Amino acid sequence: MTQDELKQAVARAAIDHVVDGEIIGVGTGSTANFFIDELGRIKHRIKGAVASSEATAARLRSHGIAVFDLNEVDSMPVYIDGADEITPHGAMIKGGGAALTREKIVASVADKFVCIADGSKLVDVLGSFPLPVEVIPMAQAVVARKLAALGGEPRLRLKDGKPLITDNGCMIIDVIGMKITDPVQLEASINNIVGVVTVGLFAMHGANVCLLGTAEGVKTLKF
Ligand code: A5P
Repeated sequence: MTQDELKQAVARAAIDHVVDGEIIGVGTGSTANFFIDELGRIKHRIKGAVASSEATAARLRSHGIAVFDLNEVDSMPVYIDGADEITPHGAMIKGGGAALTREKIVASVADKFVCIADGSKLVDVLGSFPLPVEVIPMAQAVVARKLAALGGEPRLRLKDGKPLITDNGCMIIDVIGMKITDPVQLEASINNIVGVVTVGLFAMHGANVCLLGTAEGVKTLKF
């Protein structure tokens, strides 16, 4: 099976976690896109969705799914999203698609985080994938120095030769070369750096379930 077929399989399996009549939180990225396409087929069963990025909102609307502002929503039973890496304990690196801040915000309102990922995303130790950190633009240099002091190699994410600007008007620093043995501790330390908006470590509040796409079928990991 190709990686896209594995992503499609987990996206399909995630439909079992959708709660009828409710609002669902929806993530960002290629796996989330497959999920949105599946959601489009059962849109009559849900009230609508909260999107974790402008791109996701546009794709949801293209399927005729109502998109709610998070400020109108007090709670939702489930948030479904991909990950760049996930451990056997449910800690994740996210933000490869630059949507980490809205992803963390929407996930914080949901009762359950269902991660959908192809098998290549499962790792014992986080950090082979560069750790994304969203920063206030004026703090980019000082935050980069502090991230370097934590042992990583910070690189400002570029798009078309210029700093990538997120949906929130901020920048992304990708930190290379971190071997993250204590993700909860590192999440707290990076959260404490002034000028950081969000770190793409989802460890204090990780996934509750992971649907993992493998050649042998979709495996369900519960944390
Ligand atoms: C988006 O900012 C990310 O957190 C994505 O969830 C993550 O990068 C996984 O993306 P893919 O599903 O495209 O691999």
